[in-house]
Amino acid sequence: NKSQAWSALFSEPMSDLVKRYTASVDFDKRLWDADIRGSLAHADMLAAQSIISAEDHASIQRGMAQIREEIESGRFEWKLDLEDVHLNIEARLTELVGLAGKRLHTGRSRNDQVATDVRLWLRGEIDVLVGLLTELQKVLVRQAERHADVILPGFTHLQVAQPVSFGHHMLAYVEMFARDAERLLDARKRVNRLPLGAAALAGTSYPLDRERVARTLGMEGVAQNSLDAVSDRDFAIEFSAAASLIMVHISRLSEELILWMSQAFGFIALPDRFCTGSSIMPQKKNPDVPELARGKSGRVVGHLIGLITLMKGQPLAYNKDNQEDKEPLFDTVDTLNDTLRIFADMMDGLTVKADAMERAALKGYATATDLADYLVKKGLPFRDAHEVVAHAVKTAQAQGVDLSALSLDALRQFDQRIENDVYEVLSLQGSLNARNVLGGTAPAQVREQVKRHLVRLGG
Ligand code: ARG
Repeated sequence: NKSQAWSALFSEPMSDLVKRYTASVDFDKRLWDADIRGSLAHADMLAAQSIISAEDHASIQRGMAQIREEIESGRFEWKLDLEDVHLNIEARLTELVGLAGKRLHTGRSRNDQVATDVRLWLRGEIDVLVGLLTELQKVLVRQAERHADVILPGFTHLQVAQPVSFGHHMLAYVEMFARDAERLLDARKRVNRLPLGAAALAGTSYPLDRERVARTLGMEGVAQNSLDAVSDRDFAIEFSAAASLIMVHISRLSEELILWMSQAFGFIALPDRFCTGSSIMPQKKNPDVPELARGKSGRVVGHLIGLITLMKGQPLAYNKDNQEDKEPLFDTVDTLNDTLRIFADMMDGLTVKADAMERAALKGYATATDLADYLVKKGLPFRDAHEVVAHAVKTAQAQGVDLSALSLDALRQFDQRIENDVYEVLSLQGSLNARNVLGGTAPAQVREQVKRHLVRLGG
């Protein structure tokens, strides 16, 4: 018990303030399940290597089963005096099973223990997050399928550029979230390696079978250098970078939802359950959820910066600085978890206002490129066609009409090659259908992509 001092070496106890400052149990108790699984794998190996007896091994198993039960039922008493999750569980084990509990820590340090716990925990969270990304992608693919033929203005510089399919637009986000899932799974390979056996920093003099522990824990490999194993948190930083990109993608989508829901666009409606009203303005319905998600992306990116900065000045090997890895990591996982769940539900309930999108697409000469391409196909060099169409747009603008509203005679003033078939080219639908190239916005391409994604995502 640390209410007095750490060991015989210490001549005075910590003040309450310093105790609170150095303790991590309030947040790292969340690692309890990983801590118990890691300890059981370690004990199993110690017994197999005859470092502890079969009886001690059995006592440790029995004690841990009871501790698990106590924690799950909320009866476990977490003590600040015992600093962290590791010492809390070990102390309780010793209370329950005596000397066997004191033998568990043979050939182990909290330094390799905590690195193992965080990795085990994060591996499980990555699997959950990849599942949530899959769900969100499925929702977006279904929206794309439903709205492959809905046309909205595509923007560059937020100025009307060319018409695109709303389905195509949704599938752009599917690509982003697919890469995000890939990134998480790639980081997982490096998360899923075993530090145990590195002990405090130099390895241990006991004949540990580290490969056996790795197998028991389902880890893909054993950390090959003890100093590196206990000290680097690059795996957490990598995860955090992947998490930041997910939130950046969520934030871009949020920004679009917010714009699209504004009166100036009027492209979509979000289900009421994702909006809030105003306490003063009776007419208001605000897109709070996407706004918050856009805000929370800042917090996750902030955690990445926190973690990477935490690492940069640390000499080898373990330093207490690393205790600061947990809160940002936990908060990143929690934020992602909530956000992805909410977005899958919200995007599923999205109302698409096809008429408003189409009206907007008719406003900014979105098919001007199509007219230029038309002239190129009739033999004009593209640069000349570009100039001819600029004149046509200028004229149409002066009259306040779309290119397709100009008469054939008027259009032929700009170039004699223009014929009656130009009107198909100038239509939004014609423009979309023309972009029937792999990765293009033609509804036929969108439907092909939808098929591919459904196979990839398993329905
Ligand atoms: N609570 C510590 C952490 O989170 C565990 C390792 C502490 N090791 C030590 N020698 N102080 O990093």
